[in-house]
Amino acid sequence: NSMLSWQRTAFHFQPEKNWMNDPNGPLFYKGWYHFFYQYNPNAAVWGDIVWGHAVSRDLIHWLHLPLAMVADQWYDQNGVWTGSATILPDGKIVMLYTGSTNESVQVQNLAYPADPNDPLLLDWVKYSGNPVLVPPPGIDTKDFRDPTTAWYTSEGKWRISIGSKIGKTGIALIYDTEDFINYKLQPQALHGVPGTGMWECVDFYPVSRTSQNGVDTSATGPEVKHVVKASLDDDRHDYYALGTYNEVTSTWTPDNPEIDVGIGLRYDYGIFYASKTFYDQNKGRRVLWGWIGESDSEVADVKKGWASLQGIPRTVTLDTKTGSNLLQWPVEEVESLRLRSNEFNKVEVKPGSVVPLDLDAATQLDIVAEFELDKKALEKTAESNEEFSCTTSHGARHRNALGPFGLLVLADDSLVEQTPVYFYVQKSNGTLKTFFCTDQSRSSAANDVNKQIYGNFVPVLEGEKFTLRVLVDHSIIESFAQGGRTTISSRVYPTRAIYGSAKLFLFNNAIEADVTASLKIWQMNSAFIRPYPNTR
Ligand code: FRU
Repeated sequence: NSMLSWQRTAFHFQPEKNWMNDPNGPLFYKGWYHFFYQYNPNAAVWGDIVWGHAVSRDLIHWLHLPLAMVADQWYDQNGVWTGSATILPDGKIVMLYTGSTNESVQVQNLAYPADPNDPLLLDWVKYSGNPVLVPPPGIDTKDFRDPTTAWYTSEGKWRISIGSKIGKTGIALIYDTEDFINYKLQPQALHGVPGTGMWECVDFYPVSRTSQNGVDTSATGPEVKHVVKASLDDDRHDYYALGTYNEVTSTWTPDNPEIDVGIGLRYDYGIFYASKTFYDQNKGRRVLWGWIGESDSEVADVKKGWASLQGIPRTVTLDTKTGSNLLQWPVEEVESLRLRSNEFNKVEVKPGSVVPLDLDAATQLDIVAEFELDKKALEKTAESNEEFSCTTSHGARHRNALGPFGLLVLADDSLVEQTPVYFYVQKSNGTLKTFFCTDQSRSSAANDVNKQIYGNFVPVLEGEKFTLRVLVDHSIIESFAQGGRTTISSRVYPTRAIYGSAKLFLFNNAIEADVTASLKIWQMNSAFIRPYPNTR
């Protein structure tokens, strides 16, 4: 449907058509980044799931390849579901994935490249003895899925985790293996949290405490902290927590039980689910992929013939300044798409005003912005005890002394359509508390789209300005506050703020404070995301 074609993105990964969900088995091999994904080749809705496959030199430009694995065995007849890759010390690739069997039982299967000399890894072989794991006693046959990348133990074994639940407690089961064929269930789960429900797509990895480099999945010791991430089937968000891994008991303990997995921090406060990291040995970094679904209706998806994007891959590191959260940042390669830029220095935005930013176009942008609140207003502002939350407040219209202020993205000239991305600052007990939000309530004149307000608290440390990075790509706005401490991905479907009518504005809805904004804004090139030349 050409009427909706502008909603397609220009530099985000998407298949040419139909439905996509979770990222699967990301890895770097012989000069290529491989990306596999949950794919329905037959429709723009979930179902008939197989593994799509694409390769890239730089995580930005992609070549689509033939399907890597299809549902051709009894043990994956109802779907070739999510899985992860492990690269062994000798360079061999092991792929573990969940199959939904002919009886819809969730089992784990082993696959490997047919030809390790093929850098494109076109053909995959499923192990003849599959399945290698079936649900253990006490685990429901439909609650056993999404094996992680394996990590190595000092005992000389490989260890994996598989998500599950017992009653309403989400858990990460642990298995040890020497050959990826025979497995031993460990007596204790890696971790579990009551009330969080089924844990999908568990991820477990170390982050360095001392550097911004990534570390291999098997790294342990005092130099690292360990992250546990679970995708909560019940509320469709990805939650993580930082903690300490005990290799001997194969268990993990959160640093702070109040911000445990599923009850504390999220990777992203918008739409972002079923994510997975991999250690990129090419650049020595850990890279996070996340599935960003649609927030229009299923009817609209079927009409346009496709559904879902992948977020721009993000590097993940420990925030050594706070010590209590991760930092997520778009991989540096996305900057290769930057074209001409506009700079705006120290623009004054008075209380209650909107300032247009003069750009040639505003549908493909990389925005770097910093904001300052005027010091006098900060000093004289009275303390407030207001209970604020992005999601339950009245969005960017809700004014207090010190905010909200930020950007109006994908806005039309009349501001009938606009998606504010903003900070909201409160003064209480002599200190400032900052929230970072995206308000979709006026994002589209259409009715069949999600109009929620997203966001959460963001740490702003002494002496820091309010900083923002925003990637805009037609129907997606990915926002990173304070260097990636809090992120929000939003899908928006304007009807007027499209093509040349899409504009960008600064706004300040604070009652008392002047805001000074400095920005650098790049027009973004489109990425090459090419179909497979069908010559085989
Ligand atoms: C998460 C998920 C996984 C499953 C896959 C099926 O979105 O439900 O748990 O393996 O998608 O497509």
